[in-house]
Amino acid sequence: MNKTSVKKHNICVIGAGYVGLVAAACFSKLGHKVVCVDNNLDKISALRKGKVPNYEPGLDLIIKNSVRKSLLYFSDSIQSGVKQAQVIFLAVGTPSRPNGEADLTALEKVAFEIAKNLDSYKVIVEKSTVPAQTGIKIKKTIQRYAKKNIEFDVASNPEFLREGSAVSDFLKPDRIVIGVESKKAEGILRSLYSGIKAPLLVTDINTAELIKHASNSFLATKISFANALSLVCEKTGADIDKVSQGMGLDQRIGKGFLKAGVGFGGSCFPKDVDAFIHLSKKVGYDFKLLTEVRNINRQQRMRFVEKIKEELWILKDKVIAILGLSFKPDTDDLREAPALYIIDMLKKEGAILRAYDPQALLKAKKILDKVELVDSPYKAIKGADCLALITEWDEFKNLNFTKIKKSMRLPLIVDGRNIYDRKHLEKLGFKYIGMGR
Ligand code: NAD
Ligand code: UGA
Repeated sequence: MNKTSVKKHNICVIGAGYVGLVAAACFSKLGHKVVCVDNNLDKISALRKGKVPNYEPGLDLIIKNSVRKSLLYFSDSIQSGVKQAQVIFLAVGTPSRPNGEADLTALEKVAFEIAKNLDSYKVIVEKSTVPAQTGIKIKKTIQRYAKKNIEFDVASNPEFLREGSAVSDFLKPDRIVIGVESKKAEGILRSLYSGIKAPLLVTDINTAELIKHASNSFLATKISFANALSLVCEKTGADIDKVSQGMGLDQRIGKGFLKAGVGFGGSCFPKDVDAFIHLSKKVGYDFKLLTEVRNINRQQRMRFVEKIKEELWILKDKVIAILGLSFKPDTDDLREAPALYIIDMLKKEGAILRAYDPQALLKAKKILDKVELVDSPYKAIKGADCLALITEWDEFKNLNFTKIKKSMRLPLIVDGRNIYDRKHLEKLGFKYIGMGR
């Protein structure tokens, strides 16, 4: 990062969620002056008190430093945010509608608010993940409601960060994509990112929007491919982890996102695959490949439960210890977490559930019923008939299995992320079941 060459800008980020807050914090770390706006008053008041609403490694420190240097502050007023900024990032949620289509209500609302408060040239940048052609709609909305004769640009700058490694993903990305309609907007966005060393791809807005949906859908496809393979591995006696490793060493394939397990969750892959299927259908293409990606993902969670049932036969009154609730490690995010679906299926079978997660317990408390939430993995496991590993937190990798063997009613481990060594556990007397190995 080269701080000296960064031209400073006034930025407004609308939406202080997993993406908006990280973007706001990282832009301020690069030396820009940033106001982060959210209409959730509790969130803004917590942030003003120095409390970061989501668990994201490294984020609290950046926020603390930037606030101290007066480079970052928080507001619930779009009006004041927009007036002070030359560049406005839209980072509000774009969840799924029941038919899979992206719900762009929040985005439209914010575009309307920006239009009402537009008083000088600004670049309005989509950071939220949106279907292709959303930029056109945002532009029309602003033109419709803005005061006359005020020049503005709309741009797309999709975000590729992952939760749990969001800060380093933002500051050291594989690439930066900007979709623009004018040289002026391109220049501003280029200078905004001049402190980050990464390939920068400039496209039109539709293309930038599509790059994001295509990237997430392709990564989800890789995961479902590995998960489908895991089934074939089980039937043929092959080991999915070795198969993925052997494939991934080919640079044309790449080793990332080939890890089989209980499937992908989170607020992005499931909704973005759905939105891309919907968009494709709208323009006349039935993207069956992606429909199958989604099906394989759902089946994988069911396969995990089937494995438990196969061993325990009747689940009613069996005690199952759930290790890991968040959709992946290093986040407290429970959105579309495989654990929630698995818990639901186990509950329907009448199992007694005890769960532990290093960061997501607080959020879990608000949405889970009939699951005893405990504050250590050992408490969850004590007296259990099955240890069901769902999220591969580091904390679970080095548990004391000699102690666990003594405390379980039945020494059964169903490992949904293939983190344990079968031989070692079998030597200790456990029955071990993995996914595709
Ligand atoms: P989020 O739900 O965590 O955050 C959205 C925020 O926007 C919330 O705090 C909400 O209160 C606020 N908001 C909604 N309407 C508003 C309004 N009218 N005015 C002001 N604030 C408003 O969502 P997120 O996970 O940060 O995702 C945001 C977008 O970024 C989505 O389109 C998502 O697909 C995309 N994205 C997310 C990730 C990720 O890892 N979470 C990564 C890349 C892209
Ligand atoms: C994903 C993308 O990786 C980001 O590039 C993108 O910006 C983001 O979605 C988004 O658009 O919001 P994220 O959902 O935070 O990021 O997390 P990932 O690390 O991609 O994991 C997603 C899910 O896939 C998790 O449930 C994870 O357990 C699962 N996964 C991942 C696998 O099952 N196997 C793998 O090999 C990799």
